[in-house]
Amino acid sequence: MVLKPEHQSFIDDQFAQLSAFDDLRPSDRLNKFPEHSLRVAQSMRSLAQKMGYDDNMCDVLYAVTMIHDIGKMDLPVEIWDFNERDENGAPLKPPESLKEHRRQHTKLGVERVKAAFPESWDKDPVLRLMCDLMLNHHEMIDGSGHFGKTDAELTREVQMLCICDAMDGWQIPHPHKTPEELAPSYILNNKMMDGRFNKTILQQFKDVILHQPKPSLSK
Ligand SMILES: [Fe+2]
Ligand SMILES: [Fe+2]
Repeated sequence: MVLKPEHQSFIDDQFAQLSAFDDLRPSDRLNKFPEHSLRVAQSMRSLAQKMGYDDNMCDVLYAVTMIHDIGKMDLPVEIWDFNERDENGAPLKPPESLKEHRRQHTKLGVERVKAAFPESWDKDPVLRLMCDLMLNHHEMIDGSGHFGKTDAELTREVQMLCICDAMDGWQIPHPHKTPEELAPSYILNNKMMDGRFNKTILQQFKDVILHQPKPSLSK
């Protein structure tokens, strides 16, 4: 699988667009999209190295992961910054309906790839991988994820990204979370070992996550 110049320029362009979209959000936003994308891509590369992927494939996985969330740009910018405190200052979680709306970004990202590469998006191996990761990165192997796909329907690379992405998302501070709940070891042991993620990959991931950059705790 070869990362061609046209892939890299698409990735660079989409990442720049994502950064510009992110700049439209409130300055006190909890999760900056470009920073999340970079951390998850680094995590994905480290996990791939640990799992024995060759250097070329590690580079491809890094590059493709950088734009796994680009479909977020095709949803209204205001849905990404729900006020997580009520009028009394008590923590408030986003409702399920809002989460469901946000999850549409998986399909919308694929539409961007199709629009840019109408002839080759479903043939070129890099583009197929890109679409696979975009579409399925919020799945759970027990079928409890966004589209209800299970283990056998999810590629190994998707299962790797599901872990890297969820770990970063769960480390982002929110009013309803305690500092202990943001620790990677807490997340691994209390949120990731319940059958929703691939346990074999998690074993490898344990060794890399402790060395990964973390979202800042201060806003
Ligand atoms: Fe996502
Ligand atoms: Fe993500």
